[in-house]
Amino acid sequence: MSNETTTEDTWTRFCELNQRRRAIRDFDGAPLADEDVRAVLREALLAPSSGNLQPYELHWVRDAEQKRRVARACDAQRAALSASTLVVVVTGSRIGERTAATELRYVESSSALDDAAKTYHREQLRKFRTFLRIARLLLWAPLQIILALVHPVHSLLPFGPTGMRNWTARSGIFAAQALLLAAAARGLDSCPMEGFSAKRVAKILRLPRDLVIPVVIALGRRSATARIEPRWRRPYADAVVEH
Ligand SMILES: Cc1cc2nc3c(=O)[nH]c(=O)nc-3n(C[C@H](O)[C@H](O)[C@H](O)COP(=O)(O)O)c2cc1C
Repeated sequence: MSNETTTEDTWTRFCELNQRRRAIRDFDGAPLADEDVRAVLREALLAPSSGNLQPYELHWVRDAEQKRRVARACDAQRAALSASTLVVVVTGSRIGERTAATELRYVESSSALDDAAKTYHREQLRKFRTFLRIARLLLWAPLQIILALVHPVHSLLPFGPTGMRNWTARSGIFAAQALLLAAAARGLDSCPMEGFSAKRVAKILRLPRDLVIPVVIALGRRSATARIEPRWRRPYADAVVEH
């Protein structure tokens, strides 16, 4: 098989997958095989993240009663109530710090990295750890607000507790999107949801105070009667600016 054919096949499969993934609100509720959910979660972990710090956890809500409670905390949305299971994306700088420490241990013990690579990663991780420790401090918050007022384009800078939480959420969302596509590839359906009470979900999952929840994902298989409208997107010329 030529390279060209392979690329074409991959592209065709990707397009099919991207079209198959829809936000589904009516699931059949049948239990999913653990290995299917685990496979999807594993693929989600391959998503890119800032500095590879992976500042997120994917909370798979397996317990039936807990799932019911989280579903009700998702504004009792149809998608959440009918889903077979739920995955809550949780992010925060403390998770990024934990990743940095784990990665440093990996770097030190790795036989796949040469000395130059190890030196590079050690230095990068040292910078990231300093950044994570210092950037989340409250003292940056007023500075961040002023900077964002003067230059709104700086609004997303990861300084101060809120800026830092937003920054971690951004990487968490990449994992969420990878999860949605992985689910579609595994023959599962999904619905990303931001309609939920973060306070209630955090309480049910007993999350530490400083973590945030960018999105909750309903997983399952669409019911035979699920209503799926034709997809509408803005025209290319409206959404894409070619410079
Ligand atoms: C960040 C985010 C939050 C969303 N929240 C909800 C939600 O709370 N409930 C819901 O039914 N759909 C939710 N959706 C799904 C969108 O409504 C859906 O993706 C959009 O209408 C496009 O449809 P499609 O995903 O089938 O292409 C959300 C999607 C995103 C990306």
